[in-house]
Amino acid sequence: MGTEGDFQRRLARAETLPAELYRSEDVFAQERRQLFSKEWLLVAHVSELDGPGATISERLAGWPIFVRRGRDGVLRGFHDVCRHRAGPIVGTGADGTGGPCRVPRLQCRYHGWVYDEAGRLERAPDFGDAEAFDPRALALTPLQVDLWRGFVFVCLDLEAGPLEAALGRLPGLAQDLPLEGYRLHRRVSHRIRCNWKTYVENYLEGYHIPYVHPRLHREIDVKGYEVRAGEGVVTHHAPSRPRVAEPVYDGLWAWLFPNVALNVYGEGLSVERMLPVSPGEMCIEYLFLFSEGADPGDALSMCQEVTEEDRAICEAVQTNLEAGVYDTGRLSPRHEAGVFYFQSRIREILARPA
Ligand code: FES
Ligand SMILES: [Fe+2]
Repeated sequence: MGTEGDFQRRLARAETLPAELYRSEDVFAQERRQLFSKEWLLVAHVSELDGPGATISERLAGWPIFVRRGRDGVLRGFHDVCRHRAGPIVGTGADGTGGPCRVPRLQCRYHGWVYDEAGRLERAPDFGDAEAFDPRALALTPLQVDLWRGFVFVCLDLEAGPLEAALGRLPGLAQDLPLEGYRLHRRVSHRIRCNWKTYVENYLEGYHIPYVHPRLHREIDVKGYEVRAGEGVVTHHAPSRPRVAEPVYDGLWAWLFPNVALNVYGEGLSVERMLPVSPGEMCIEYLFLFSEGADPGDALSMCQEVTEEDRAICEAVQTNLEAGVYDTGRLSPRHEAGVFYFQSRIREILARPA
């Protein structure tokens, strides 16, 4: 990305991404192929995969996948697509939302093919005498799975570099947080009628706080608000106004490319996943974690309120992006370094040969 001065100079001249990128089926398909099937993506907290057969399934940017703890204790990930005629092994809800479940063995739900713990085809019941039928050539398609401090990530690209390299500045920023001491409180998801980038960009700036989030604005001193972008991460510095008893911002709000954010509260945190569903629809999924004995009430109610406010503004922006009058705009050098960083990465990925 060049030097800091170079970044600022480019930001001072920057135009936003064209509106077409927020509504086109072709761009969405390109993002699935060139971005979401290449990057490390957070899917779960490790406590959701406790014990043999514990499984998380979901449609990750349109890719049905699952991660399961085998009877041997090993976490493995696969595309949830049977090699016979593409049936589901685990499946998700009708709306594509998955989540935790228990899967004692890997048997396809369509015609009952059975795969072993490592995804190799073990049995194709009552199949008949097929010629040149090689079960070894019909294993489930695997994913890379790795852990960072209790969070489970997958990468659909088996050639991609290690998770550690993709985490950028995050491990350093989070090194003093007692992440392993927190318990998963709950998962909460919200369907939002906007492109996933619309919501990510909204997360990446505090410029809208005075106009969109009245309660948050009473707590945060927007004059001292700063955003820093680089090395895969965007961080917010959002100082509380004096006399805020339970700060909603406690030292770290960090977003990790392409679609996950960590919001640290007084006694816990939320991890926020921004999941594409279609060009005009996405899903926010929160994992709330708190320390033992903490009262999560305030943090949850503030989060609910802020998410509703963000949903309303992002859906209005999406409607306008789809209307056709707007093509590109300009970015604020004071407030939108995070948006610029994200948009620069998106431009670069979409420019790669398919
Ligand atoms: S599609 Fe899986 S057994 Fe037929
Ligand atoms: Fe917001």
